[in-house]
Amino acid sequence: MTLISYFQAASVPALALALMGSGFAYAQTPSGPEATPAELVDALNSVFGKHPGYRAVHAKGVVLEGKFIPSPTAAAITKAAHLQATSVPVTVRFSNFAGIPTLADNNGLASPHGLAIKFDLPDGTHTDIIAHSFNGFPSATVTDFRDLLVALAASGPDAAKPTALDAYLGKHPVAKAFLTAAKPAPESYATLPYYGVNTFKFTNAKGDVTYARYQLIPTAGSHSLTDAQAAAADGNYLYQEIIKRVIQKPAEFKLLAQIANDGDKIDDPSVAWPDSRTLVELGTLEISHAVSDSNAAQAKLLFMPNALLPGIEVGDSMLNPRSAAYPISYSHRTR
Ligand code: HEM
Repeated sequence: MTLISYFQAASVPALALALMGSGFAYAQTPSGPEATPAELVDALNSVFGKHPGYRAVHAKGVVLEGKFIPSPTAAAITKAAHLQATSVPVTVRFSNFAGIPTLADNNGLASPHGLAIKFDLPDGTHTDIIAHSFNGFPSATVTDFRDLLVALAASGPDAAKPTALDAYLGKHPVAKAFLTAAKPAPESYATLPYYGVNTFKFTNAKGDVTYARYQLIPTAGSHSLTDAQAAAADGNYLYQEIIKRVIQKPAEFKLLAQIANDGDKIDDPSVAWPDSRTLVELGTLEISHAVSDSNAAQAKLLFMPNALLPGIEVGDSMLNPRSAAYPISYSHRTR
């Protein structure tokens, strides 16, 4: 089975068109056991093509602003400044998954959608949360992720069967589950839950340590389009909808920390923890207005998964090598 048929099995026929136009020509082979940050960005470009001025992945997005209001319960697990009593201004970017800036919002490659948040603290420091609308990741490590991307890029419509992707997915059932999971088009960027996927180490004022993963749950509830509604939707419907929505009323999310139980895989973001885990409410994200020039704003913004404040540290071994790829994509898109 090719990637296209995997996505078709998940009712996303538009993927074929998107991938055919996305530049399989950059396909390459892995150059060493450990993926370097530059290789990760090259591998993303090999799947989606190079689009100067845009992110290597999550290329299409929209920038808005608002505030974050911490909950009193946050202090139980962390002393981090943005999660204490006072509200903090935030800049957020919603995005579509693929590294294709012209991708229609109703294309299957738009999912998982992204939500990136920058907390702007009064002392001029900032910290970021970057989440997507799927509770999991196709790969346990950055090197596995690089190998998946390389296999994807080598498995276009003309590739001999079995393709490199067939071989990869045969050995990595978690990647197959990620690719084939149903990801229906959302009604709105504000009607999707988002998951931080990686693990962070939280420390409170007493020095107690908790390992947890972020979840952002929409106050408006989770709502998807039917396949017929998605097919009839405008290619920019998500962009248009969120801008209109926040004029009426802020788009709201509860930020939660899902706490690891003993025995949960802290170091493997490809394995979601059970829903039965304790959730601690960290606060409310209130997105109240779009910025005046979203394209200019998104070009300047760089969100970093490991931009953290005291009280929160990297909790799994993917976070730092993942984060090293982001400034490389930023340097490509700003040169
Ligand atoms: C091996 C792991 C990963 C690699 C190598 C990687 C790489 C990248 C790169 C290169 C960018 C573009 C950065 C820029 O130009 O500013 C990006 C953006 C993004 N990634 Fe990842 N990523 C990884 C894992 C994840 C995970 C686990 C999530 C979800 C939890 C995620 C969600 C996003 C989102 C939402 C954006 C867009 C951020 C924005 O709006 O600027 N990524 N990623």
